[in-house]
Amino acid sequence: MTDYLVVGSGLFGSTFAYEAAKRGNHVEVIEKRDHIAGNIYTKEVEGIQVHQYGAHIFHTKMKDIWEYVHQFAEFNNYVNSPIANYNGEIYNLPFNMNTFSKLWGVRTPAEAQAKIEEQKQNANVPEKPTNLEEQALSLVGTDIYEKLVKGYTEKQWGRKAVDLPSFIIRRIPVRFIYDNNYFSDPYQGIPKGGYTQIVEKMLSSDLIDVKLNTDFFAHKDEYLNSGKRIIFTGMIDQFFDYALGELEYRSLRFETEVKDVDNYQGNAVVNYTDAETPFTRVIEHKHFEFGKGNKGKTVITHEYPKDWHRGDEPYYPIDNKQNRSLYKQYTDLAAKEADNVVFGGRLGQYRYYNMDQTIMSALRLVKTEFGE
Ligand code: FDA
Repeated sequence: MTDYLVVGSGLFGSTFAYEAAKRGNHVEVIEKRDHIAGNIYTKEVEGIQVHQYGAHIFHTKMKDIWEYVHQFAEFNNYVNSPIANYNGEIYNLPFNMNTFSKLWGVRTPAEAQAKIEEQKQNANVPEKPTNLEEQALSLVGTDIYEKLVKGYTEKQWGRKAVDLPSFIIRRIPVRFIYDNNYFSDPYQGIPKGGYTQIVEKMLSSDLIDVKLNTDFFAHKDEYLNSGKRIIFTGMIDQFFDYALGELEYRSLRFETEVKDVDNYQGNAVVNYTDAETPFTRVIEHKHFEFGKGNKGKTVITHEYPKDWHRGDEPYYPIDNKQNRSLYKQYTDLAAKEADNVVFGGRLGQYRYYNMDQTIMSALRLVKTEFGE
């Protein structure tokens, strides 16, 4: 049996801890926040499960992962169908026949296809797009780009579309059917009663000790010399004291408030796609659970993208050549620690993982750790 120290009680660390304890290993989990569950943490306010770190919708193509999470919670059949608000004009997302008929009054797929084709031609973009604007115009034409892509993307990245690389948008899904389901995965839903219960159950074994408000870096040497095998799900560059430089992130600021109305915006997710509105999305949490919650109350969150500086919450890794190369150099350092420390999760591996991918990646590590 091995003694493990898991740094971080998010979905990656908790999945690993659960599986390690199931195999009879002792696991200490340390978490610097005052609660478990990392970014999937939900908290009840006015009888509503509030997603504290941004909207989380579970969706996957992997049947085994879908079945795996059902050990820890029952899921509802929520389907993500966001709305776009462009200067007060309302459109359905993802781009589909509902969007096109509202934009242009078209009724058939052939009419919509012709309209997009005509706009692509008129946009006059070079054959090889050199920036995000040209790339998007070449994919969907002017109207969709101007109203639904440009402002949102510029706010998200904090830069003008003409200054962003084209590879950020490889494709823009366009559907010629009347279907507002954002994801194309066969399995989708929200855990009834929120996400925190999943992690609570994962960490409930007698073989797991959880210590909150405990930062690895406050006692780094002690932990490294503890003889425990470390599963580290914090930032890989911070682990190495930023010796090779900082990896870049995009951060977010959430403003959450209780409103004295039953129904504020009629949908869980409304994207504000113009450039002037400073927030990108407004989330109304009760709609994730079909209106559950106290009568006459609702909880909404405005989501503001922002630059990341050391000490801010690192939400999205910035995928570019420079960061990829720097991360690669950190993995070379990590390889030297491999006898003692394994890096996992979205921060340890510096990549955007959806929840299903996070679980899959933790289960892969379980297999290699336990030679299965
Ligand atoms: P996570 O960040 O959750 O956990 C890491 C933990 O380690 C944190 O609790 C942190 O406090 C702790 N930690 C860090 N450094 C430490 C230190 N030095 N000492 C102690 N503890 C430390 N996915 C999806 O499938 N559907 C969705 O709709 C969304 N939506 C979404 C919205 C937003 C805004 C974001 C940013 C992300 C999503 N996701 C998502 C992705 C989802 O959040 C992600 O897959 C998991 O939370 C990743 O779990 P991890 O355990 O890797 O990281």
